[in-house]
Amino acid sequence: MKIVHIDSSIAGREATSSVLAKAVVDQLVSGQQAQVHYRDLNQEGLGHLTDEVFSGFQLDANQRNEAQQAAAKRSESYIAELKDADALVLAVPMYNFSTPSTVKAWIDHVARAGVSFTYGENGPVGLLNVKKAYVVSTRGGQYAGSAFDHQSPWIEQVLKFVGVQEVEFIYAEGMAGGNAEQAVQAANQQIAELA
Ligand SMILES: Cc1cc2nc3c(=O)[nH]c(=O)nc-3n(C[C@H](O)[C@H](O)[C@H](O)COP(=O)(O)O)c2cc1C
Repeated sequence: MKIVHIDSSIAGREATSSVLAKAVVDQLVSGQQAQVHYRDLNQEGLGHLTDEVFSGFQLDANQRNEAQQAAAKRSESYIAELKDADALVLAVPMYNFSTPSTVKAWIDHVARAGVSFTYGENGPVGLLNVKKAYVVSTRGGQYAGSAFDHQSPWIEQVLKFVGVQEVEFIYAEGMAGGNAEQAVQAANQQIAELA
């Protein structure tokens, strides 16, 4: 089993989303042989996408300058980890109704025309072929299913766009109120029941 495991909370490995995502990975692996690619997006030093980097993605490798080569190499390593993975486990707290900006920067390095998606006769076709993404989303308030949740719909759309077949969300909501303990318990219950 091949798993890509990504944390994004600025609170690091102690963050609730990181702890729950680790529990998902342990549950998926449970005794099987597994190859787990782990990344904490806070340690990646990924900047915002720039014109230089984006233009470099379109060039042949031998035409790229040094910075473009480094960015393309990094992007290609993210894509290679995901290609044909059985599972992506993504820990993502809600920040300002959406994701941490590191998640957006990571997606900007993963979603590349001709590399991770292409356009077919019937529209876009994802090329990554990841069987399933488990997205662990922690939130201070309660947003799932509401018009103010600008995180889950985008994550689901962009992951499917690059070829993730199925996306399951595991929420721990209301973490800022008195609901934190029950929210984590419910998330752990959902994780325990994952196939
Ligand atoms: C910069 C920042 C922005 C946040 N914005 C929101 C928000 O828009 N909605 C919300 O419900 N919680 C928001 N929160 C609260 C976090 O989502 C919440 O504390 C969550 O439990 C953090 O999860 P973690 O322990 O996995 O980092 C924000 C927290 C931070 C640090």
